[in-house]
Amino acid sequence: MDLGVLVLSITLALSYLITLGNATKNVLFFASDDLRPELSSYLGPNFPSPVHPPIHSPNIDTLAAKSLLLKRAYCQQAVCSPSRTSLLTGRRPDTTHVYDLGTYFRDVGGNFTTLPQYFKQNGYTTVGMGKIFHPGRASNNDDPISWSEPYFHAPNLMAWNTRESWKAVPESEWKEKPLPDAQIADHAIETLQRLAPAAKGSKQIPFFVAVGFHKPHLPFVFPDSMFEHYPKESIKLPDNPYAPVDMPAVAWLKYDELLRYEDIRTLNVTADINTTLPDDVVLNLRRAYYSAVSWTDLQVGRVLDELEKLGLANNTIVSFWGDHGWQLGEHGEWTKQTNFELGTHAPMMIHVPGLTDKGISTTELTEYVDLFPTLVEAAGLEQLPICPKNSSGIALCREGTSLMPLIETPTEPIKKASFSQFPRPSMFQIEEMGYTMRTDRYRYTEWPKFIGSPDYKPDWLTLAGVELYDHQTDPEENINLANNPKYQTLRAQLSQQLRAGWREAQRV
Ligand SMILES: *[C@@H]1O[C@H](CO)[C@@H](O)[C@H](O)[C@H]1NC(C)=O
Ligand SMILES: *[C@@H]1O[C@H](CO)[C@@H](O)[C@H](O)[C@H]1NC(C)=O
Ligand SMILES: *[C@@H]1O[C@H](CO)[C@@H](O)[C@H](O)[C@H]1NC(C)=O
Ligand SMILES: *[C@@H]1O[C@H](CO)[C@@H](O)[C@H](O)[C@H]1NC(C)=O
Ligand SMILES: *[C@@H]1O[C@H](CO)[C@@H](O)[C@H](O)[C@H]1NC(C)=O
Repeated sequence: MDLGVLVLSITLALSYLITLGNATKNVLFFASDDLRPELSSYLGPNFPSPVHPPIHSPNIDTLAAKSLLLKRAYCQQAVCSPSRTSLLTGRRPDTTHVYDLGTYFRDVGGNFTTLPQYFKQNGYTTVGMGKIFHPGRASNNDDPISWSEPYFHAPNLMAWNTRESWKAVPESEWKEKPLPDAQIADHAIETLQRLAPAAKGSKQIPFFVAVGFHKPHLPFVFPDSMFEHYPKESIKLPDNPYAPVDMPAVAWLKYDELLRYEDIRTLNVTADINTTLPDDVVLNLRRAYYSAVSWTDLQVGRVLDELEKLGLANNTIVSFWGDHGWQLGEHGEWTKQTNFELGTHAPMMIHVPGLTDKGISTTELTEYVDLFPTLVEAAGLEQLPICPKNSSGIALCREGTSLMPLIETPTEPIKKASFSQFPRPSMFQIEEMGYTMRTDRYRYTEWPKFIGSPDYKPDWLTLAGVELYDHQTDPEENINLANNPKYQTLRAQLSQQLRAGWREAQRV
């Protein structure tokens, strides 16, 4: 740290303390489902796809403009419950032992203290609604111990679970039967109104309100007015509707989740490598996905407006994330559940009043396990120790790093690489575990045989595939270089780094 940085740090720390006073900060914690970083605030070299219309996301972009915007954040496993469980416990899938959508971390990983639970233990009123944990069996119905009050789900959630992959809903229909995310936003607004007096009163009982939106998850259901942001002719086909050259078959996902919808099933597609959907279907799905993103954005805006109206915005930390990336026909691939950049790269931002108001954008590598320690530090709670190798008996520890230093030095790396993983042939029947690592320049992936309970570790000697993509020359990951003779020295280095794992990649 040079002198300039030191002085800056002290100045920032002092101004933070002055702004903070003795006030405890509230937390408003947003999640969105299946949202890739396809937002205008992400435009630039690390945007997931260069083929897209301008995305209409004014509310999230406004939040991004006053946040620490993490342009290169990676989830730890690109599917709902494993990713969310990892973020909410601050531990990685090989520690939570949650790789699928049915297993509850307290049954298989340990009795870990979650992020909202930690705030609850520290005197916060914690209230959750919508999709935060993966609902049902995977969280024993939203992990009741995490919340101060009964959990809320949108009453119309199942009623809008259409049989078709998307639906642009006319006003007459959504007026009659409100869409789930609007119900969740309504509930969030009422909750903030109800908690505001205690949060602003002399006793200052702070809140942690978690608001989980369901879109843009399939089926893409949104008010038809959202289409106005995306004229049909603005939608383009992906420019790489083929699998990467020399991709190992194990990397491929047969996107069953999409094939289930009636309009897609009747197309009789195989979903095999190097096939894709008919062009008109691809264009319609992309248009509907973007519309669903704008619909989510609208709901985020409604809740943020209420926070402002209640005079709480300058005393409330706001975080926003999408649980993982999404493939919209790039590589001929659909949905999530891959180890590609498009599967693992996801949006994340944190507004800390008094500290990030001018907007700080960073392209340093970050991970979803970092959010827990970051919010803990931003709120001034006691920090967590780093987890030992076996932390199954430890309620409170972290496998990520607070990102607060990025506020002062956004170009100073926090870690050397981000790590994600995904099982094959499926998350419910694990034979291989793909371990992937993003360094500043490369994505490197190995697909070893997986040794399950009680060891939960890879057998690095039995590999079903290796991938190496150079993001400097190939940002779309179209060419696997792992078997190219010219890259063998680099491959050996990256292999060693991947196998050494996240602990060795921590710089601080
Ligand atoms: C899990 O930990 C919580 C405290 O975080 C405790 O109240 C609860 O009894 C524990 N459950 C079990 C099964 O040990
Ligand atoms: C898929 O298509 C690409 C580009 O045409 C080709 O290089 C690759 O070998 C194909 N992969 C398979 C498994 O057929
Ligand atoms: C799909 O298969 C069904 C049953 O074989 C057939 O009736 C239908 O016409 C096929 N659809 C298309 C689009 O090929
Ligand atoms: C926050 O906003 C409220 C109402 O807008 C104002 O009364 C208060 O002084 C502000 N606090 C800080 C720390 O800026
Ligand atoms: C991890 O530690 C727990 C005790 O906290 C122990 O029961 C368990 O066997 C250990 N697991 C491994 C794989 O060593």
